[in-house]
Order: sequence, then C-alpha cells, then structure tokens
Amino acid sequence: TGSQYTEQHRPSFHFSPESKWMNDPNGMVYYDGEYHLFYQYYPDSTVWGPMHWGHAVSKNLLTWEHLPIALFPDENGWIFSGSAVVDWNNTSGLGKNGKPPLVAIFTSHSSPGEKAGRNDFQTQSIAYSLDNGRKWTKYPGNPVLKSPGIRDFRDPKVSWHEASQQWIMTLAVQDHISFYASPDLKTWSHQSDFGKASGAHGGVWECPDLFQLQVPGSKETKWVLLVSINPGGPNGGSATQYFVGSFDGKTFRSDNSPETTLWMDYGRDNYAGVTWSDIPKADGRRLLMGWMSNWQYATVVPTEKWRSATTIPRELTLKNTSAGLRLISSPVVELEKLRGKSSKIDAQKVAGIVDLSAKLGFPAAQMEAILELELPNDSSADLGIEVSNSKGERYRVGYNAATKQFYSDRTQAGKTAFSNVFAEKIHVAPRLASGNIVRLHIYFDRASAELFGDDGATVMTDILFPNEDYTQVKVYAENGTAQLKSGVFYVVKSIWE
Ligand code: FRU
Repeated sequence: TGSQYTEQHRPSFHFSPESKWMNDPNGMVYYDGEYHLFYQYYPDSTVWGPMHWGHAVSKNLLTWEHLPIALFPDENGWIFSGSAVVDWNNTSGLGKNGKPPLVAIFTSHSSPGEKAGRNDFQTQSIAYSLDNGRKWTKYPGNPVLKSPGIRDFRDPKVSWHEASQQWIMTLAVQDHISFYASPDLKTWSHQSDFGKASGAHGGVWECPDLFQLQVPGSKETKWVLLVSINPGGPNGGSATQYFVGSFDGKTFRSDNSPETTLWMDYGRDNYAGVTWSDIPKADGRRLLMGWMSNWQYATVVPTEKWRSATTIPRELTLKNTSAGLRLISSPVVELEKLRGKSSKIDAQKVAGIVDLSAKLGFPAAQMEAILELELPNDSSADLGIEVSNSKGERYRVGYNAATKQFYSDRTQAGKTAFSNVFAEKIHVAPRLASGNIVRLHIYFDRASAELFGDDGATVMTDILFPNEDYTQVKVYAENGTAQLKSGVFYVVKSIWE
C-alpha cells in the first residue's frame, strides 16, 4: 500500500485490514503467482456483523495488496467462512476459453431464519472468478448444499481427492465433521461423519481442514484433520485441535484414542486457521494462517480503526514422537527476508536476569528471537525472554522446568481491563519434546508474540496491548540456572514500508 501505518498496536509484519472488523481467514488459494487471502469482514463496523469476504493478495506471503471486497451478502444470507479452489479440469463447467475458474465455496448464513428459530439457516453456496479472483459471480443454483436441519452447519473446506477423483467437502456440523463428495462442486452427497466421540468438545466445532502430510523418514502420508473449537480451548475460549489418521475419500479414521486431544497452538490467539489450496507440487508445503484473536474478547480489544490481524504464515509438518505423530508449526522461510539488523549473544551462564537492551541497540517491538538454552539435569529453572517498556509493563514467554510447561504471561503486558478474561491467568502448554536443550523461537510484533518452542513442537500465540511499544529485552533464568548456548535477535522489517 506504500504507506506506513502509524496507529498504536498496528502490526508491522502481520496482515491486518486497513480498517474495520476482520475474523477468520477464508478461501486461501494460490493461483497464477498469487497467494489469495480472503477474510471474514464487516466493512461498516469494528465489531462483527453482516459478513463479507474481504480480499488481499501477495506474491511472497509477506507483503499484501488490499483488494476490493470479493463477496457481498445476498438473498441467501451473509457470507460466512469457506474455502477456494482452482477447478483445473473445469469439472464445474464454470470455466471459459480454457481458463480454469477459481471457485469459492462458503456458508450462506441467513439471520431471518435464526430469528424464527429455524434450524436450516446455514447452507453452502459457491461463486466463481475468471479473472484471477478480481471479479466474482455467484452461482445461480445456490445454495449447492442445503442444511439437513442442524443449527451449526458451516465452514466448507474443499479439496480435490486424487485417489477417488472427486471433490471432498469437510464441513463443521455442531459437534462433529461431515464429509461430502462431489464430481462438479455443484452437487454434493454425504459420505460419513467423524468426531462426535473424539477430541475436545468444550464448544462448537468450526472451520475444519483436511490435508495430507508426509510421514518423516518414510514414503507414507497421513491425513490431518484440523478442527477449530469455540469455546473449550486449552487456555480458554477459541482454539484449534487436530487429528492424525487416514482418509479414503469417504471416511476419516483417527490414529489416536478418542480421549486424546491434540492442540495445534496452546496460545489464546490462533483461531480458525486453515491451509492454502493449490500450492504447486514443486513447492509442496502445507501453509497455514490463523485469525490472531479469540471470541472471548475479539470485539473489545483496544484498537480503534481496525480489529484483528492474522498470524504469521506457518508451514505444517509431521514429526514422529514416542506418543505418535504430532503436528509441527514453523514460521515460513520467507520470513527470513524480513530480517534487518541483528545481534548475536555470547554463550553464557544465565542466573537471574540478563538485560540485553544496550547490547541489542534496537527496540523489542518488531523482533525475532532465537535462543537455545541448556538446563542441568533435574533443573527446576524458569527461563525465558522478557520484553518491557518504560511504563513498567512487561511480557514474558518461556519454559518452566519444574512444571515441564512452556508459558506465555501477558498479565502485566499493558492494557488488560477491556476484558476480565483477557489477562486472568498465565497461559501454559505441555512440553512435547524432551532433552536438556530448550529452543525458543519467538516473533514479537508490537501487539503479538508467537512462540515456536522446540522447533515448533509446542506453539503459543498471544496478542498483547502495551501502552507504549516495548523497548527493552531481557533473558532470565530464575529458580535455577541455564546455559545460553546460542542466541540471536533480529529486527523484523515492516511489510508496509
Ligand atoms: C469462526 C466462525 C465461523 C463462521 C464465521 C462467521 O470464527 O464462527 O464458524 O463461519 O466465524 O463470521
């Protein structure tokens, strides 16, 4: 956009709408050199309301160009979350002159139905574009999938299933997932249900995703099913759980026992994340972005002009652990291009607080930190990074060897009074990796912190609102000591410059 944002709390290297309300990322698809990002958007207010699909594109996953609103509410209702695909073989017949259509599949939400207490007010509809996502036409035969009379029936994530040569729609239905199949994106038939008795059920299931990932060290692949759930997250409110298993074009079978719950991110602020469709085979990555907020307080966070940002783009992979296959999230390598000035910290013993602010010489507000810390055997040390400002506000993110938990502490991070649950407790996450060396990889962006612990085995994403940007950086080890083996800090450049 050429102009640098100046508002307080405006993220400098995360996507945010120029103004007004945003929630879930939608319809992420790669086509013709562009990463498309659509998002739940209400252009008339900074709180949730009649939903549209906002739109932005990027050529590099870093810098975004804002585009006009792609989808407006229509006679079928508001435009809720969904996905987009490239219909390469023109199965839908909506393509023209050999150009494959981009097809968006979304939920039409009709609120009059809600008022009347009906149970069939969420249906699935499609729209298509023949000009690289700039202009969208709603399909005249909408809705393409009617509700079977269930209240929550939404957020279609569609992908082409190679083995069975058909489209598969993964749909969130109240407390489970339903799979539908289609030859042409226009007619859908129910295949199976999954999840009523598996995983977490503290809230309604929303925004699912289904994709294949390589099992490391083998030719085998596994299917991963992401399910966002609200409320019922591990630290309260909205969060995303996942299942690892198999899918044959009809039925998903989880490898885990029904009692097992796996969380993609333990922070409070990574919700409704789904992955990009149609990433070229030569790239082959599975790329995700989530909504960096939580329904517990999203509508009252202290930003005035706009509300919410997305997480940084992440690559998802699988890792073998003693407990089974687990999902790993890593910052995409593209982010390294945003690295500015850097500072390497000498290996040293950390006992108490080490102030690095003078050594670094750059503020902590837009910063990437990569630390490797070694703990003595049977340590009970509490170690991590603290960022703070001249107002005495501080945020801590680290690992506590006594409890074997990573944690994120925003209780004294700045503004908290806008919500009584925002800073009610320190967020914790179990350590999945083992061994004496703990790795902390953290992105700080003015109003957020994203921790990738142990190379992405434990992830925590939290937003925060300091009254003044953080300037100081400290590394600490309390209740014990730690050996800092390596440490490097980078300024992260703004994507809007
Ligand atoms: C998730 C969600 C979706 C829905 C959308 C509405 O945050 O509730 O289930 O489609 O937001 O904006």
